[in-house]
Amino acid sequence: MDKFGHFDDASREYVITRPDTPWPWINYMGTEDFFSLISNTAGGYCFCRDAKFRRILRYRYNGVPMDAGGRYYYIKDDDTVWNPGWKPCKTALDFYECRHGMGYTRITGEKDGLRAEVTFFVPIGHRCEVHKVMLTNSGKEKKQFKLYSFAEWCLWNASTDMENFQRNLSTGEVEIEGSTIYHKTEYRERRDHYAFFGVNRPFDGFDTDRETFIGMYNGFEAPQQVLAGTSGNTRAHGWSPIASHRFDLELNPGESTELVFVLGYVENPQEEKFIAPGVINKKRALAMLEAFSTVEKADKAFAELKAFWDNLLGRFNVSSDVPELDRTVNIWNQYQCMITFFFSRSASYFESGIGRGMGFRDSNQDLAGIVHMIPDRARQRIIDIASTQFPDGGCYHQYQPLTKRGNNDIGGGFNDDPLWLIFGTVAYIRETGDFGILNEPVPFDNKPGTEVSLLEHLKISFRHVTDNLGPHGLPLIGRADWNDCLNLNCFSWNPDDSFQTTENKTEGTKAESLMIAGLFVAQGRDFAELLERIGDKDADGVKVAVKTMENAVKQHGWDGEWFLRAYDYYGNKIGSKECEEGKIFIESQGWCTMARIGADEGLCDKALDSTVKLLECEQGIVLNTPAYSKYIYEYGEISSYPEGYKENAGIFCHNNPWVIIGEAMAGRRDDVWRHYCKITPAFTKDKTLRKVEPYVFCQMVAGKDAAKPGEGKNSWLTGTAAWTWKAVSESILGIKPQFDGLLVDPCIPLQHGTYHVLRKFRDAEYHLEIKYTGKKGGYYIPYKPGVQKLTVEL
Ligand code: GLC
Ligand code: GLC
Repeated sequence: MDKFGHFDDASREYVITRPDTPWPWINYMGTEDFFSLISNTAGGYCFCRDAKFRRILRYRYNGVPMDAGGRYYYIKDDDTVWNPGWKPCKTALDFYECRHGMGYTRITGEKDGLRAEVTFFVPIGHRCEVHKVMLTNSGKEKKQFKLYSFAEWCLWNASTDMENFQRNLSTGEVEIEGSTIYHKTEYRERRDHYAFFGVNRPFDGFDTDRETFIGMYNGFEAPQQVLAGTSGNTRAHGWSPIASHRFDLELNPGESTELVFVLGYVENPQEEKFIAPGVINKKRALAMLEAFSTVEKADKAFAELKAFWDNLLGRFNVSSDVPELDRTVNIWNQYQCMITFFFSRSASYFESGIGRGMGFRDSNQDLAGIVHMIPDRARQRIIDIASTQFPDGGCYHQYQPLTKRGNNDIGGGFNDDPLWLIFGTVAYIRETGDFGILNEPVPFDNKPGTEVSLLEHLKISFRHVTDNLGPHGLPLIGRADWNDCLNLNCFSWNPDDSFQTTENKTEGTKAESLMIAGLFVAQGRDFAELLERIGDKDADGVKVAVKTMENAVKQHGWDGEWFLRAYDYYGNKIGSKECEEGKIFIESQGWCTMARIGADEGLCDKALDSTVKLLECEQGIVLNTPAYSKYIYEYGEISSYPEGYKENAGIFCHNNPWVIIGEAMAGRRDDVWRHYCKITPAFTKDKTLRKVEPYVFCQMVAGKDAAKPGEGKNSWLTGTAAWTWKAVSESILGIKPQFDGLLVDPCIPLQHGTYHVLRKFRDAEYHLEIKYTGKKGGYYIPYKPGVQKLTVEL
């Protein structure tokens, strides 16, 4: 039992036992296109499809205290007002518990003999949050009390909602009908969608005007109507529309009552928008409310959601002698991979949902974490991503989920981007055997009529590297490579420039990337194997290009003890013993060792030794060392961060698995395991220092040079999810999908070398008992549909 909570593996939940966690510990809900973020005190928001353009609940990122605003239930019991999730009133509770589960969160509070349990979830097949509120009189006296709901509407565009008040404060509109409050701002004009908050019993009062409900000079913690036990029964006109219901309730000792609230979103075809002038067509909302009109119906939907996750998480299971490993693999890492796949890097408690859409490189990497669970959606994602590519192989760095169109909002010209399409597609085909995807017609920049096959896109992606080589025959870096902050062609002295989008010099640049070189060799090998497998004659050309690149790396990318990181605009070395700071970087050690460049000459082992010696610290492997201590005009954003944070010597968890995989390929079992345990939160001891959720990976943990090494930031939406999944499932536990079967090839300390794996693979189900004694080479299982039990000794 920990200070803040514990895992409940049998229920696949993390149980938070006190509300004042070091940072809001959140969960996600939703599986299709309606999504919610919910903290352990019920803060957060929801949206449909696009966190920027279809935001349903308002949220304040910079508020004090933080995480204020969400869907709150207030209870007024005599003179005491409290919330089951403690916030916002923060009335001391007799009992508090938050269970974050797979796609749902259940918050229970108890005070003075009244227990309130609220189960929040987004049901499959509906665009809504369901809140099942169960109230129980756990005392010995009859209880009379009032229950209030509360939600604050966002005026749809999450960006203008917090900027354009001269307009916003005049546009808000609502309707109230039955027990449902409808939010219809801007529906009168071009919008074809509205939101609603309803409940399955008649209310005793309501409010839709925020100032009337809360009071002009109060906060969420002291809504004046709740304090007074009244409702204003207001209809909002402009200002800030909200939705609140009031119920006057009575319970005998031991008695319970349950209410089902539905917070939903509806789109209507233009011609069906209204039923009378100014009156919205509620047909679809009523149907949704009807679907959850009883507790039984809500429970059935909840059971369906559970079954959905049981099915997904049932495709890969390990049973070993390390509980932290089992719970990470079987539950939380796979869950986080799904969440990251849904959201890319758009909406978390570190990303506002406004700035970023779906990243080209990010989304391709995310595929590696989910393709074994939802191959059909992986297929669609690959086509969506590839459709934003340009004819020369270059890419928009991101696309907006609503339109699926690429944009330059966070830049373009990152020269690693195209290669990730090969990475994502190969992962997909290895998992599914669906070579047919290669023949899919896919346009460029979403322009109809420009379609070529996906295979052609991959070839163009590969060529984009060989078409853009620098003076050493190494890949030109472009705006940056995987490290968004290594901006070698940007040269900015203007603090108002964004490093991502400011001018980027292409003329005369000598800036080359060893990270892209390693990525190219590794992906090139896979690509050649794929081409050979389908009998494509370009396989040989790819192999030659790979060989040439390997030679260039050995000749110009080796620094004596490790791989260089880059050459700058002028052709000077970065990540070399000759540099004063930033002598060694993780990315090139990871990728060049995964590509096994110079392995026969001992380069990989040397590079890994140097990584351990120079970059490893207590909580993981830092990105570079020594950290940059001042801004360097030639290097860009990397040197803008204080020492030990983010890309300037933070522990970027995303790329630790690259080293882990490189180590596994070199057979370095103990290094593999130590590095895995360091970044995996289930093994982390000091939860207070780490701050962020102990059940998911974070993008960055402050490194050894930071003021507070070990503090985590940017939890949830990070490539760390997919990469640690790849590292643990393929390299540590050794289950490697191949084009025509599975290769069992572990790298785990021998004391943990006996374990069971259940692996569903295409139409096969393998029950493997693995006894690993350190033999190399692996054990190949050709694909065959059906259930197979095997003992694998190696
Ligand atoms: C962030 C970005 C990712 C990038 C990484 C390193 O995680 O989402 O695309 O590779 O930072 O800069
Ligand atoms: C900043 C961050 C980096 C992120 C990028 C996305 O550069 O440091 O991690 O990938 O922004 O735009």
